[in-house]
Amino acid sequence: MRTIAIVNQKGGCGKTTTTVNLAGCLVDGGASVLVIDMDPQAHSTLALGMDPEELDENLYEVLAEPQGADKLDRILVAIDDNLDLAPSGIVLSALEQKLAGERAERRTERLADAVATLPNEYDFVLIDCPPNVGLLTFNALRVAREVIVPLETSFFAIQGVQKLLETIGLLADRIGHELTVRILPTLYDGRTRYSRETLTEIRDLFKDVCFDTVIRTNVKLREAARRGLPISGYSPSSNGARDYGSLAVELEAAGPPSDHPADRPANPLDNDREVVIHFRDPAASDVRIAGDFNGWVPDKDVNSRIESTGETRVWTKVLRLRPGTYHYRYIIDGEWREDPANPHVESGPAGSRNSVLVVR
Ligand SMILES: Nc1ncnc2c1ncn2[C@@H]1O[C@H](COP(=O)(O)OP(=O)(O)OP(=O)(O)O)[C@@H](O)[C@H]1O
Ligand SMILES: [Mg+2]
Repeated sequence: MRTIAIVNQKGGCGKTTTTVNLAGCLVDGGASVLVIDMDPQAHSTLALGMDPEELDENLYEVLAEPQGADKLDRILVAIDDNLDLAPSGIVLSALEQKLAGERAERRTERLADAVATLPNEYDFVLIDCPPNVGLLTFNALRVAREVIVPLETSFFAIQGVQKLLETIGLLADRIGHELTVRILPTLYDGRTRYSRETLTEIRDLFKDVCFDTVIRTNVKLREAARRGLPISGYSPSSNGARDYGSLAVELEAAGPPSDHPADRPANPLDNDREVVIHFRDPAASDVRIAGDFNGWVPDKDVNSRIESTGETRVWTKVLRLRPGTYHYRYIIDGEWREDPANPHVESGPAGSRNSVLVVR
């Protein structure tokens, strides 16, 4: 069973569209899928043809009470032969308040406890998250092993997603399991230069963590949601159906992340170089580094040391990189900045500025 959370704090970037249509395409390819709608807006529930107001029970019953985990099976709605839905409802927005008195760990484990009660009969569990990184999204990340971040092909969206990757990285450290994060460019309009340039920038920045598949803007996806159908059922020959079909194939081909680090796609150490970067600042208290070499997750795969020389603190960042050109930024007390000691800065076509590192 592969459990995948669809996450981005930015609204309207295609989380729900991705959840529902990826689910439809995976089912068409022969998989069995459970969609969990963790968004109180209940858009996935609606887009799969269910009216949340008419359902007696939803995920609130499962998540709000300590004994609720066993109820997950009971609230499931069969949408199709191999497609089930754990529906949402507006009441889910009260969950945070309801669980306010509980220990943080217990609060964020509710969904994981519930999913653990299910027989292992699904090939995929897709979790649609709300547009914020609050309790509901944390619950989803706690149970997921993989994360898809739909990223609207626009410059401002890129900036926000770096922050999100930072949060996901911190959370993965805390819960002690790896999350395989992949970026999915969405709402792409190949007719505009802006969209084409922004896609190039996304690919440059996120390299290996970016899906090859790009989701084009396609009005049929909107219509399908309104009809309560996945795109593969509503308009199988549309660009939307093709793009989500291609995403399903790419995801299946990539296979699940391995639990054994040795089985993960090798990062051949043979040609790696040790790269040492220093950062000096008397005022900063937390300095991390993120770049295309670590999927823009601050300090991931980085050996970090702090030393003090007089008034000044020196952060030393040790990276192992293959020869090539890399882009990076520092995160200094939460703020993303270029490296002040590195004059080699490149502006992306959409305006973002990153420091450049060449490893020979
Ligand atoms: N590729 C696309 N082509 C055309 N319309 C799209 C596409 N992707 C999403 N949309 C439309 O854009 C709107 C927002 O998409 P969606 O609901 O999937 O975003 P979201 O990230 O789930 O939003 P929220 O954060 O509010 O949950 C919807 O009306 C949807 O139908
Ligand atoms: Mg949504």
